[in-house]
Amino acid sequence: MRTEQPKVIHLKDYQAPEYLIDETHLTFELYEDRTLVHAQLVMRRNPERPAGKLPPLDLHGQELELLSIALNDRELAAGDYQLSEDCLTLQPDSDSFVIDSSVVIHPETNTALEGLYKSGSMFCTQCEAEGFRKITYYLDRPDVMSKFTTTVSAEQKAYPVLLSNGNPIASGSEDNGRHWATWEDPFKKPAYLFALVAGDLWAIEDSFTTMSGRDVALRIYVEPENVDKCQHAMDSLKKSMKWDEEAYGREYDLDIFMIVAVNDFNMGAMENKGLNIFNSSAVLARAETATDAAHQRVEAIVGHEYFHNWSGNRVTCRDWFQLSLKEGFTVFRDSQFSADMNSATVKRVEDVAYLRTHQFAEDAGPMAHSVRPESFIEISNFYTLTVYEKGAEVVRMIQTLLGEEGFRKGSDLYFERHDGQAVTVDDFVKAMEDANGADLTQFKRWYSQSGTPRLTVSEQYDEAAKTYSLTFRQSCPPTPGQPTKEPFVIPVKLGLLAADGSDMPLRLQGEPQAAGTSRVLAVTEAEQTFTFVDVAERPQPSLLRGFSAPVKLDYPYSRDQLMFLMQHDSDGFNRWEAGQQLSVQVLQELIGQHQRGEALAMDERLISALRTLLQNDELDAAMVAEMLSLPGEAYLTEISEVADIDAIHAAREFARKRIADALFEPLWQRYQANRETSRNTAYVASAEHFARRALQNIALSYLMLSEKAEVVAACLEQFEQADNMTERLTALAVLVNSPFEAERDKTLQTFAEHFKDNPLVMDQWFSVQAGNPLPGGLERVQTLMQHPAFTLKNPNKVRALIGAFANQNLVNFHRADGAGYRFLADQVITLNALNPQIASRLLAPLTRWRKYDSARQALMKGELERILASGELSSDVYEVVSKSLA
Ligand code: ARG
Ligand code: ZN
Repeated sequence: MRTEQPKVIHLKDYQAPEYLIDETHLTFELYEDRTLVHAQLVMRRNPERPAGKLPPLDLHGQELELLSIALNDRELAAGDYQLSEDCLTLQPDSDSFVIDSSVVIHPETNTALEGLYKSGSMFCTQCEAEGFRKITYYLDRPDVMSKFTTTVSAEQKAYPVLLSNGNPIASGSEDNGRHWATWEDPFKKPAYLFALVAGDLWAIEDSFTTMSGRDVALRIYVEPENVDKCQHAMDSLKKSMKWDEEAYGREYDLDIFMIVAVNDFNMGAMENKGLNIFNSSAVLARAETATDAAHQRVEAIVGHEYFHNWSGNRVTCRDWFQLSLKEGFTVFRDSQFSADMNSATVKRVEDVAYLRTHQFAEDAGPMAHSVRPESFIEISNFYTLTVYEKGAEVVRMIQTLLGEEGFRKGSDLYFERHDGQAVTVDDFVKAMEDANGADLTQFKRWYSQSGTPRLTVSEQYDEAAKTYSLTFRQSCPPTPGQPTKEPFVIPVKLGLLAADGSDMPLRLQGEPQAAGTSRVLAVTEAEQTFTFVDVAERPQPSLLRGFSAPVKLDYPYSRDQLMFLMQHDSDGFNRWEAGQQLSVQVLQELIGQHQRGEALAMDERLISALRTLLQNDELDAAMVAEMLSLPGEAYLTEISEVADIDAIHAAREFARKRIADALFEPLWQRYQANRETSRNTAYVASAEHFARRALQNIALSYLMLSEKAEVVAACLEQFEQADNMTERLTALAVLVNSPFEAERDKTLQTFAEHFKDNPLVMDQWFSVQAGNPLPGGLERVQTLMQHPAFTLKNPNKVRALIGAFANQNLVNFHRADGAGYRFLADQVITLNALNPQIASRLLAPLTRWRKYDSARQALMKGELERILASGELSSDVYEVVSKSLA
């Protein structure tokens, strides 16, 4: 808790550490009512700092009860050092020295889930970013890298498994029922990559032979009841290891790689060296209990954490302002991996929809910050969509500009040059430049300027000269602390379509001949024109193919042009994008009608475009499913000047009903055919099967709007007979959102009875109900908070119920009387004391108050002010609330 004025940390104040820690020897004695931590730090002065008088040594430490501290075996008396709330200061008397400290900590009462804590009966750690200082006095900063040896001792019966980073080197038992194990990590690492686990865990085991022929033991540790849900994660791990060898030439480096699943975890997972700790939701997956989306999420997160072994661990960050160095790059790597394992176009569509809905909103809100932030109060608040997802887009643009080969040369040079170092975003870009003889100086503005650029495009066709010019104008709105922006380098991948739908050859003015039919133009100026020659007929431009830059594209497409691109664009992503833009235009027209109190009347061209898709059996079913999904309410909110959530909801529901009525026959036919295949096929977690079920399920969600008896019967059949959670949960969700109360209540009850002992399935049960837009949503959520399976102490439960309500149930959350806002603020105030990181994340919807009408703005601001006045705020909550009121 914050008791002093919060300190703002600035990138410009960075200084290398005065001291280094060559070796770290830790001993943990775990007990039920306390843990003793002994740390021996072998230290020396940093030769890179100015010589002269020895500076004082400031060790980070928080919530530690100091038992003793010694300098070179000399026990220090109270007057020999100074203690503050987060620091221990002492004066070394030689260039090299050893510090020994003993502290008591309390994992058993740690609800913040940072440092050492208990999740159920197991001990585990989460040290990134600054959790290690809650374990022992240390230089808890990523540019201090040390060789760790760790001994853990605990009662043998309750904690048969004792794990830490690296390789196991010794173990034994004592007479008193306790045992111990010692682990040694041969690689130097910063403290944020430290991990410890102790518990009654079972493991599934496998092995992987690396490209140089070394055998690596693979283990996934879980609570005994979950050993049957680890195979998918294990398969994903082996695929990740192989993929990183092939795509990046990166080989694993220890004899053993372990994953541990824990139920109480603030984020998805953590890449601790050799001992990844995962939220159980990111490991456990089997057909009966996890959806296709959950299976894909497990594969992606297992990959992500594994890839960090190079992009994060072998080469780490100098300071936390460089977080995107490892996170943006690693998200980019995991997205390439997922694209290779499944459908690349579907993956791109999902990523872009997510980015545009959520990251664009962040970039337009009060917490907007650059990919490399300049300052922070609480670093935990900067594990954001901007640092992760926009950071990945920035790396993707580097690849687009340099080409795949050039990018690989750059990454090879980066890993070779900086192995074992803590480096910066500049070092990453420099390696890319040096390997390619490229100049990315202007490009680096993507790292320093926040906000989403807008790219406005206009065209001119000269019939007589056969030339076609595209003029690009870029601008970027002001963001906190950044009133004006310099032009970005915007890679625009594009093609020109002839009237028959084919791609035309592209030749720019001045070029000797045409080159390719899809090319990347780098827009570098505020306004810039490119002229194509030999353009035989007036083309239809396909712009920003594959979403080649994270910008808002403005081009005045007519609806007929969009329908043309939907059918003919050779770029699969842009076919989807044309459909989205068409839907947005149609929905915005409906929103306007609703606001003016007119009867809603929908442009039927959207229906005929969707009919054409549905009738084409050759198209990838997953893409058809994506194209049938209308832009979400959150995206429609993001692109509105002032979001009228009631109008958005009414318009979207009206469109869904119109589509369902008009396309009942083809939807019913595709549904029945796909359900039939599902019935006769055992569950497989692969792209082709994901695709079939996706189309089947979106069809069902439309069909239920018809309220026909045969559809309800089909839905109940799917709920009862499906052998997998993907089909069962969709059937449940569409019933929950339907007017069939008896069926709804019965299925909800059956589901809960069947899955009451599986917390991850109960999370889905909570989410489905939290997202139900029918009136009374807040009351339903409040009732569910009393359910025995719910607890505020488990982050997954908070996200599943409260998070889903505030982020996905927009009509109920934004109730005109403000009750939704008051409810969320109450939960934030409670959680502020329990788990600041979760409290601060839960707050995000309230920070978007500028998007709404003045009555709602006042209500939302009122709740933010109430939180600010509610007492002792964590630095996490304080930073977000104060910045969003500023
Ligand atoms: N490095 C982790 C990842 O793979 C995230 C851990 C961040 N944890 C936190 N409490 N902020 O993305
Ligand atoms: Zn990561």
